[in-house]
Amino acid sequence: MLSVPTLVSLLLFAVPTAVRASPCVTFDADFNLLAFGFGGKDWNAGQQDSWTSGSATDITTSGRPPFDGTSTTCYLAQFFNAVYFINADKSKPSDVHIYDAGAKSWTTQSVNTGNFDVSSFNAILDHDTNVFYALSHNEVYFLDMGNLKTANATALDWQDVQQSPYPADYKPVMALAQNHVHFLDVPDVPAGSADIFVIHFSYFQPQSQAYTPSDGKAMPATHGQTASFFQSEGVQQEFAFIPDDGSLTYVVNVETNTTKTLAGPTTKDANSQYAASINALVQLDSTGSVSFIPYKQGDDSANAAAAWSAVSKIAAAAPPASSGAASPSASGSAGKSGASTIPTGTRQGASGTGANVASPTGSAEPNGAMTNAISLWSVAGAVMALVASLR
Ligand SMILES: *[C@@H]1O[C@H](CO)[C@@H](O)[C@H](O)[C@H]1NC(C)=O
Repeated sequence: MLSVPTLVSLLLFAVPTAVRASPCVTFDADFNLLAFGFGGKDWNAGQQDSWTSGSATDITTSGRPPFDGTSTTCYLAQFFNAVYFINADKSKPSDVHIYDAGAKSWTTQSVNTGNFDVSSFNAILDHDTNVFYALSHNEVYFLDMGNLKTANATALDWQDVQQSPYPADYKPVMALAQNHVHFLDVPDVPAGSADIFVIHFSYFQPQSQAYTPSDGKAMPATHGQTASFFQSEGVQQEFAFIPDDGSLTYVVNVETNTTKTLAGPTTKDANSQYAASINALVQLDSTGSVSFIPYKQGDDSANAAAAWSAVSKIAAAAPPASSGAASPSASGSAGKSGASTIPTGTRQGASGTGANVASPTGSAEPNGAMTNAISLWSVAGAVMALVASLR
């Protein structure tokens, strides 16, 4: 009979190397929180009132991408109750994967990238036209998703629109609201202001737009992440901006052109991605932990008092790394750190109508921690069961 140590080492060798995970969180059109690529599976955490109890529902099904991409991003097409994924399959980075959240089925859309660099871009999905607008190496591109809930047999094309007015080293921070793309952390644009690209006219507004801080705290001119708050119908009017240092959450209202602040996320992690529903902002940090802060448009006192909590429903189903996870430092990014300080191994992202920059130097390292940790958990469990059975 084999000794326990031999069995243990056999078992360890038998476990395949964990696939590097690059998870993504977003919503369906009913604002159920969806978590993709967590421990090799996909999960539905239901609506906001249920996020802190129970366990998410496994929605893993055939046709899904492997979620082994370097910087997976996902975007809710609210009209179609569909979610689009970019960079969800490392072997086919140009593909856009489509999850039909109504039918709970997957298809894969072939896309010709042309000069568009899937490994280095930031994009928003325009609400009304269902067209992606992206900035990649300072060139504006679009990708028209039409009415797609399932992929077309014919390939789509990333189309080159025009050059941006920004310097070559600008690392785009982009947010969507009112069919306008808002560019933050643009060089020489002061704190509290953003540049605007008017989608319907393919037009960069020559003047920056200032947003008056209603609580005295202006948006810093620094790199960060964004997520647009949805409305029950119609275009987004507000977006959240979370600077890389996570000190505060800024909410920009593009109707009144004001900002206000909410608490910064508990986990200060510049490699987090964010998604927003109507009434919540969700953070997925680089260890795979998901947290949220409730939000109510126009309710300043509730928002000022709101606090971040873990979405324990996802952790119960797919535990994040409990230790040893690569958690890139979020320090040193205060102030005008901007473009040049993106650490290697970055997965920056935001979903919903948010944006993503896939760092050209990025690797999946930080995100890999989660799947690896889950695999180790299963191995540890199996080993313990085995040892117990041999006693
Ligand atoms: C808010 O900013 C937008 C974009 O610059 C502008 O079109 C609009 O007139 C402004 N609204 C107000 C109320 O200032």
